[in-house]
Amino acid sequence: MSLSVVILAAGKGTRMRSSLPKVLHSIADKPMVAHVIDSARQLGASNIYVVYGFGGEVLQQRITGDDLTFVEQVEQLGTGHAVDQASPFLTDDEDVLVLYGDVPLTKVSTLESLLAAKPSDGMALLTVHLANPMGYGRIVREEIAGQQQVVGIIEQKDASPEQLTINEANTGILLANGGDLKRWLSNLSSDNAQGEYYLTDIIASAHGEGKTINTAHPETEIEVEGANNRVQLATLERAYQARIAEELMIAGASLRDPARIDVRGKLTTGTEVSIDVNCIFEGEVTIADNVLVGANCIIKNSTIGENVEIKPNSIIEDAVIEADCSVGPFARIRPGSVMKQNSHIGNFVEMKNTTLGEGTKAGHLSYLGNAEIGRKVNVGAGTITCNYDGVNKSTTTIGDNAFIGSNSSLVAPVTIGDSATIGAGSVITKEVAQSDLALGRAKQRNLSGWQRPTKKS
Ligand code: UD1
Ligand code: CA
Repeated sequence: MSLSVVILAAGKGTRMRSSLPKVLHSIADKPMVAHVIDSARQLGASNIYVVYGFGGEVLQQRITGDDLTFVEQVEQLGTGHAVDQASPFLTDDEDVLVLYGDVPLTKVSTLESLLAAKPSDGMALLTVHLANPMGYGRIVREEIAGQQQVVGIIEQKDASPEQLTINEANTGILLANGGDLKRWLSNLSSDNAQGEYYLTDIIASAHGEGKTINTAHPETEIEVEGANNRVQLATLERAYQARIAEELMIAGASLRDPARIDVRGKLTTGTEVSIDVNCIFEGEVTIADNVLVGANCIIKNSTIGENVEIKPNSIIEDAVIEADCSVGPFARIRPGSVMKQNSHIGNFVEMKNTTLGEGTKAGHLSYLGNAEIGRKVNVGAGTITCNYDGVNKSTTTIGDNAFIGSNSSLVAPVTIGDSATIGAGSVITKEVAQSDLALGRAKQRNLSGWQRPTKKS
């Protein structure tokens, strides 16, 4: 059976107090509606219809895909009216799943259980038992053939005192046959307490036609919670992060405090990986076996090899760090950097667009930009590659086994040969041949009997 998904996203989101449409507010740096679209894709949806009301332009800029169709709901006349905007696109023989752009944490496994619950001649509803169902539509059941079957949904504002005691609530998520859905939607009326076309009224229509309405349930309430303001958004963010932290631990990573890690993208960890508190992972990050990540590190779109130690307060972005390396504390590895096996970057070293050869060390206080650095090089403290002349960037090339004395300025473009030595404090502007010693600094003069200035009275 082919599946289409209709995502309701027409709410303005006034309570966000934002110019951005509500569904573009993010969980883990990804818009809420993008989480919902991801879930729809994981279910194998062939078409996804996003019903929008406000900010259609920015929505279609930020959210893209061949499988997406944006459908405008010009006036927000209710959830039934919203789904009906997609009716012209729906076919009679497919299943249609209704999701919500501001309910981002529904698990794919929960939605799969909803798909499994739908009888061939009936529909399926995702419902949840709540201690306090205030505000939710209530699931009305009647005994049919010895079973408590769903016969309708009554909205809070339309419910009798007796119906208000029902604690099985409507999540809004439902699944129906496309032909059935279109027929039921075309018969909706707005004759109710809110004067809206309620999607929930299709349940009574289904029951009236003798269809069976089965239910499925989420594992936890947070899966069906929406975000109307930034407080609720922050609650969902924490729940999402807790879920990711749990997945990482189940996969074998040790988190010193699962409440103090943030993953804003996809983090993949090997075995014996330990992550200390307050680390942030962004984009795609892959960490191999036996890696230690110290406190307060930020790692974005990078690959970390086996047995690497990243010491506290290091920032790594768009970089490859091969096996056995050590980084930090307080290191900054910027885009385009590669640390070959067993190399070392120490405190207050910044690297950008630079390759550090195998076994090479830059332990302290350096800037290495646009550099090709060979194997087993020692880069002394305070070494600067002067890669920028104010207009162009140039390359510094350093051969294997070179020794760069402390506080050297290497003015690019410049090449330093294999096994060359640079005296401390040098400003190097010319090529240094293999094995040569280069000294590019003023000669020391000592003046004996030097009198210091005295204070003028
Ligand atoms: C709806 C359900 C209620 C359920 C609750 C769960 C109906 C009539 N009621 O109530 O049974 O318990 O959700 O949260 O369906 N939307 C549009 N266009 C519209 C109206 C709504 O896109 O014209 C979108 C909203 O942006 C929102 C979602 O649909 O994302 C739900 O709408 P909302 O008005 O919040 O419905 P509730 O009154 O909460
Ligand atoms: Ca609501």
